Amino acid sequence: SFEQSLRPQTLKQYIGQDKVKENLQVFIEAARMRQETLDHVLLYGPPGLGKTTLAAIIANEMGVNLRTTSGPAIERPGDLAAILTALEPGDVLFIDEIHRLPRSIEEVLYPAMEDFCLDIVIGKGPTARSVRLDLPPFTLVGATTRAGSLSAPLRDRFGVLSRLEYYKEEHLREIVLRTAELLDTEIDPFAAVEIARRSRGTPRIANRLLKRVRDFAQVRGNGSIEAQLADEALELMQVDRLGLDHIDHKLLKGIIEKFRGGPVGLETIAATIGEESQTIEDVYEPYLLQIGFLQRTPRGRLVTHRVYEHFQLEVPAE
Ligand code: ADE
Repeated sequence: SFEQSLRPQTLKQYIGQDKVKENLQVFIEAARMRQETLDHVLLYGPPGLGKTTLAAIIANEMGVNLRTTSGPAIERPGDLAAILTALEPGDVLFIDEIHRLPRSIEEVLYPAMEDFCLDIVIGKGPTARSVRLDLPPFTLVGATTRAGSLSAPLRDRFGVLSRLEYYKEEHLREIVLRTAELLDTEIDPFAAVEIARRSRGTPRIANRLLKRVRDFAQVRGNGSIEAQLADEALELMQVDRLGLDHIDHKLLKGIIEKFRGGPVGLETIAATIGEESQTIEDVYEPYLLQIGFLQRTPRGRLVTHRVYEHFQLEVPAE
C-alpha cells in the first residue's frame, strides 16, 4: 500500500537507532552466511519508534515472508497453532503487543520457539490425547512497550533483545525530509527542524505532523511547506514547542493544580484527568520522564521545576 511504501524497506534506508541497526545488521548477515534462521528477536520501547517497521525490514533482509499478529488477537491455543502451521521455513512471525498474550498461549509458544514443535491436545475428557506437531523453523519477532511485563521464561527465549530509544532531533529531521520527498512535497529545512522538534522523539508523530502541515500548505499556501506556515499550522494543532499535546498538558497541570506538584499515585492521576492508567504509563509518561518533566518516586509522580518554567508558572517554595 501507499502507507507501506513510506516505510523504509531495508536497514540502510532506516534512519536512527544506530546501535540496534548495527547489531541487527551483523546478526542478519551471520544467519544468512550460515544459511540459518535468525534467532528470535524482542523489540521493546515506547510506541511509534519503528518496531513494526523493523520486523518488516528483518523479514525483507532475510528474504522471507512476514506474518503479523498481536498478543490480544490470539485468544486460544488453536489460533496460534493455525498461524504457526501455516508458516514457511524461515518466515518471520511478528507478534505485536506480545506482553498481552494470554498465559495459556505463552505455554504453547515455548516449545514452538525452542524446538519448533507444537503440543496440542485433541479431544476432551478421558479420550483427550496430546499430539506433537513439527513446525518449520521460524523467527519470532516480538514487540512490546513494556519488557518488564513479559514473563521471564518468555523473555529468556529471545536470542536478540533490542531496546528502541527516542530519536534524536537530527534523525527526526532526516525522516521528515525523507517522507516529504516520498510525498513529493517541497519543504523548507527550518520547517523540517520545527516538525522534528515537536515530535517527541517519535517518527510516527513526525510523519503525522508532516502530513497535517502539508494539508495546511496545500489549502492556505502554494503547496510548499514554508517555515512560517509550518509554525502556524503546528500552533493550530495544539502541539507546543516541545511537542506536548493537550493530554500532556492536562496531566502536568492536573498534578500542579490538584496535587501541588505531587507526589501523587498513577491511579489518582488517571482518575482525575479521565485517561486510562495504562495509556498514561505506556504512551505519555515515558517521554515526560525522558525530558525530565516528571519523576517517579516511591510515593508517586512528581513534576519538576522544568514544568513550572515551561508553563511560565512560579516554582512553589519548598
Ligand atoms: N519513517 C518512519 N521511521 C523511519 C525511520 N526510522 N527511518 C526512515 N524512515 C522512517
